[in-house]
Amino acid sequence: MAAISITNLTRAFKGSLAVRGIDLEIADGDFCVLLGPSGCGKTTLLRMIAGLLEPTSGTIELDGKDITDLASKKRDIAMVFQSYALYPHLTVHRNLEFPLSQARRADGSRPSREESRARIREVAASLEIDHLLERRPKELSGGQRQRVAVGRALVREPKAFLMDEPLSNLDAALRTQTRQELTGLHRRLGSTFVYVTHDQVEAMTMATRIVVLNNGAIEQAGTPLEVYDTPASTFVATFIGSPAMNLLPAQITTADGAVRAHGGSFSADLWPGSTPDADVLLGARPEHLRILEPGEAAPAVSFPLQVSNAEQLGHETIVYGHTPGAEVCVRRSRCAGVEPGDTVQLGLDLRHLHVFDRETGRRMEWIPDSPDPETVADPAPSAALPARGEGAALPARAGAEAPVA
Ligand SMILES: Nc1ncnc2c1ncn2[C@@H]1O[C@H](COP(=O)(O)OP(=O)(O)O)[C@@H](O)[C@H]1O
Ligand SMILES: [Mg+2]
Repeated sequence: MAAISITNLTRAFKGSLAVRGIDLEIADGDFCVLLGPSGCGKTTLLRMIAGLLEPTSGTIELDGKDITDLASKKRDIAMVFQSYALYPHLTVHRNLEFPLSQARRADGSRPSREESRARIREVAASLEIDHLLERRPKELSGGQRQRVAVGRALVREPKAFLMDEPLSNLDAALRTQTRQELTGLHRRLGSTFVYVTHDQVEAMTMATRIVVLNNGAIEQAGTPLEVYDTPASTFVATFIGSPAMNLLPAQITTADGAVRAHGGSFSADLWPGSTPDADVLLGARPEHLRILEPGEAAPAVSFPLQVSNAEQLGHETIVYGHTPGAEVCVRRSRCAGVEPGDTVQLGLDLRHLHVFDRETGRRMEWIPDSPDPETVADPAPSAALPARGEGAALPARAGAEAPVA
């Protein structure tokens, strides 16, 4: 059992805040990924959980017990560093033995020599490094060193594993393989993992829960698909997903009983109802924009794209271009016939449209006065969707949206 509960955690370095008042619940057995750009405070947060760095304020609990002031050694948490932190002069076996020699059981006793050896063999076999036990770190490849580092964390059977960008020194192929090994390990052990990375692919593929950090604070927390499908802000929308979500500046107004969006190259009726005028960014993922065939009926949002480049990736094509007000990128399955210099018409279904407040960057939700969520996605002519009072209009609703933590 290892649930980690973090309350109002802050860390300042010489007056500037690296971590600003973070509240976070990590459930027992979670694979929680702390994701964000370099310098956003991931390592600082992880080191505070590990007990390697003192918080400026706030508390950390492990299974309901306040461990904020508990020494790192006594936390029953193991950390794997980006640098692996192996002892260069010791063999793999001795490197794996070291944490065991430091470990004490609840009754204060230490594992016997035989117990240590058996445990090291077991861990080495599970990580497929049992044939390397007599080598020193410099005689290992990057991937092998990485496994020894994970092994050092594993031998102690800690309550939780903390990992700080453990794959960043590996080449692409090995990273993909090690990702799968780590998720397999997590499934087998069922322990709590807290994993730091700036790589959204690692986060999407390994996490049960992603916590997106920006400038020392949480932008959004949720399952990988929650943060992908309903990003809470333009920061999350553009950080997760590659190529990034397209953002088109637009203004929303009410016209003839409908919420209408005007952009540099389009005007679209979004939903029946009314809204105060607002400056927004309309978000569209590259895979949701469609290149319309000549004569094809246009969906809700449609605008021209002047193609500047088409990247052929074999299994898919990424088309880049310009529309008044924005640079736009479209992802489609392998296609021929779109060339730089062409102008094509793009279409987007309403169910794939994201709306963000242009000033705050926060997500806005259209809440129609209808119990049927389907009608939001695709309002049928028969479905009357008056906004639920004044407060339900997009801008007011957006103001009420707090970051999801
Ligand atoms: N020991 C330190 N002294 C001063 N500033 C630090 C120290 N450690 C981190 N910082 C600052 O805190 C911020 C967050 O750093 P860090 O947690 O390492 O970010 P990340 O791991 O997300 O790249 C950065 O601005 C960094 O410069
Ligand atoms: Mg870091």
